[in-house]
Amino acid sequence: MELHQLLQEAKEKIALVSTQAELGDVRAFYLGKKSPLQKYMKKMSSLTPEERKTLGAEINAIKGELEDLVNQKRQALLDMEIEARLQKETVDVTLPGHVFPVGTMHPLKQMIRKVEDIFIGMGYSIKEGPEIETERFNFEMLNVPKGHPARDMQDTFFIATKPDIALRTHTSSLQVRVMEKEKPPIRVICPGRVYRNEAITSRAHCMFHQVEGLYIAENVSFAEMKQTLFYFAQKMFGEQTKIRLRPSYFPFTEPSAEMDVSCNICNGKGCQLCKNSGWVEIMGCGMVDPNVLENCNIDSNKYKGYAFGLGIERMTQVKYKTNDIRLFFENDVRFIQQFQSLK
Ligand code: PHE
Repeated sequence: MELHQLLQEAKEKIALVSTQAELGDVRAFYLGKKSPLQKYMKKMSSLTPEERKTLGAEINAIKGELEDLVNQKRQALLDMEIEARLQKETVDVTLPGHVFPVGTMHPLKQMIRKVEDIFIGMGYSIKEGPEIETERFNFEMLNVPKGHPARDMQDTFFIATKPDIALRTHTSSLQVRVMEKEKPPIRVICPGRVYRNEAITSRAHCMFHQVEGLYIAENVSFAEMKQTLFYFAQKMFGEQTKIRLRPSYFPFTEPSAEMDVSCNICNGKGCQLCKNSGWVEIMGCGMVDPNVLENCNIDSNKYKGYAFGLGIERMTQVKYKTNDIRLFFENDVRFIQQFQSLK
């Protein structure tokens, strides 16, 4: 075969290969030790020095050209491989990401935790009790005997077959449970769910949450209670918060009051939540009635105390500017998820 034919043939082979392995084979064949070019080399000895020079130069040129072609092809194959890999691994950064579902603590639970934190910081401990309660703990021991008009204040869900058992109407039942068991000084808060037979509206529900607070010791004063609750309100709603105590009546406290905080939804201008008054009631409170202390075998001459019952839904409404209490119980995730970042 003529040299130029050999070159032509090699070029065509190189052009046709599609993998690095094939290219390696082609290169070995034309440029390796057993290459047809070697045969020409062998011929050299029978040539004149002049012819040798020309043939040698020609062979070297062909070798060089083939080497170049092989290198170009190798690079071209590499580029194709990289291109194919990039195609396969391409990430479309404009696609929407995967959303991983993240759980949320219910806003009411978050609020209860906040209340607990603040009172734990003041040395209170946490106690819980049953939601299905006896009349004795819910009313009787709290100075509300059968037939007492105060029983009308709270429309109660009684258990039909057991008239002395009801869903607790307030967490004040815990006051009795704690005082019967523990000796003063007592300093507890009791979070929990309570039930009242009320029509469901944007402001009221038949099921809601309270946190009861109770402090019993010697020489406890109303002023101390006021300061404790003021401190609590500022911690909860911010330094700018004002409180207002209005005289009220509860059978188990004397004197009794209801506490309002300044409405931070309208900043006093008036809105639906504060009924345009600029104030929102968040709790009932008062000095524990001596009768209640005596009912629980605590010497009312030696010990005094105060109690309060915080409304969790109302406070959550003020804190997070929520205007409808029903939202807390409908479990619409779009509502609940808004509280994700508010730990
Ligand atoms: N138990 C009362 C209520 O339901 C609140 C309260 C608690 C009042 C403790 C005084 C003392 O509404």
